[in-house]
Amino acid sequence: MGENPSFSFWNAQWQEKFCERVRHIRANPQVDYWDKRARDFSAMRKSNGYDYGRKVYGALRSVLDAEASMLDIGAGPGSFVIPFAEHIKFVTAVEPSHEMANLLRGNAAEAGIDNYALIEEIMQDLPIGGELDAAFDLVTVSLVFWMYEDVWPLISQMEAYSSKYCAIIAEIPDHKNPRSASCCDVEEFQILYNMLISQGRFANVSVVDYRCERSVEDELQYRKLAYEQYAGDLTPAAQEKLRREVLAEARDGLCTVATRSAVIWWDRRDIVS
Ligand SMILES: C[S@@+](CC[C@H](N)C(=O)[O-])C[C@H]1O[C@@H](n2cnc3c(N)ncnc32)[C@H](O)[C@@H]1O
Repeated sequence: MGENPSFSFWNAQWQEKFCERVRHIRANPQVDYWDKRARDFSAMRKSNGYDYGRKVYGALRSVLDAEASMLDIGAGPGSFVIPFAEHIKFVTAVEPSHEMANLLRGNAAEAGIDNYALIEEIMQDLPIGGELDAAFDLVTVSLVFWMYEDVWPLISQMEAYSSKYCAIIAEIPDHKNPRSASCCDVEEFQILYNMLISQGRFANVSVVDYRCERSVEDELQYRKLAYEQYAGDLTPAAQEKLRREVLAEARDGLCTVATRSAVIWWDRRDIVS
């Protein structure tokens, strides 16, 4: 890639931001963190009827029809599987966390969805050059790439599995909202978009606003896990501080989660070289 200075610049930006984030936290999350987060994450996505996935479907529906197939990498508790499977033929989910995968199965059953399959692996362990190649009309990845330092090989892998469209859904840090603008935020959307352009992928972007309410207990559970993962030991004093913060923010026993994400999508048949 050395011969493409624009790509080298944006790739270096990504790696710099990644290393800066990792320097400020205790540890980058691995699959065991998502096992612990599965319960509160699933409750959050379900609390408003999978509104996040429905909005992302809304941004992509013009390129999908009832016969379409999709691969969703890092599927979580079914955030996309459930709303997309209601409209398209088949969804294949890749989800390495056993707890997330169990919740996905339960959530799909509850929603009456059975036109899906689940692969319990990290994407890096999936084969390239096999039966997944060009097997899907759309390949999506939502809120996963921020955990990885070397992102271009993962984007190339998405493209290998798609015959038509790819979509990356990335959070846009909101620096006015302290709940989402922590030192952990990567400027994921801006860098990925520029990286794609530098490689001849002239991507479309739609912005999706997400808002849900969740119980004080679920918010506290999330904050405790995030504190242990990113900040330090969960001492009684730290727990008490988190509880006070959450109670101060809650209204009528509920906490609001508000985020903004970019749906960055492109047609892999239209790459300008
Ligand atoms: C923040 S959650 C996002 C879930 C879902 N995509 C959403 O937007 O609601 C990240 C998910 O990615 C999964 N994940 C982490 N690393 C992964 C990898 N290398 N390959 C596939 N999935 C991964 C985690 O287990 C977790 O369920």
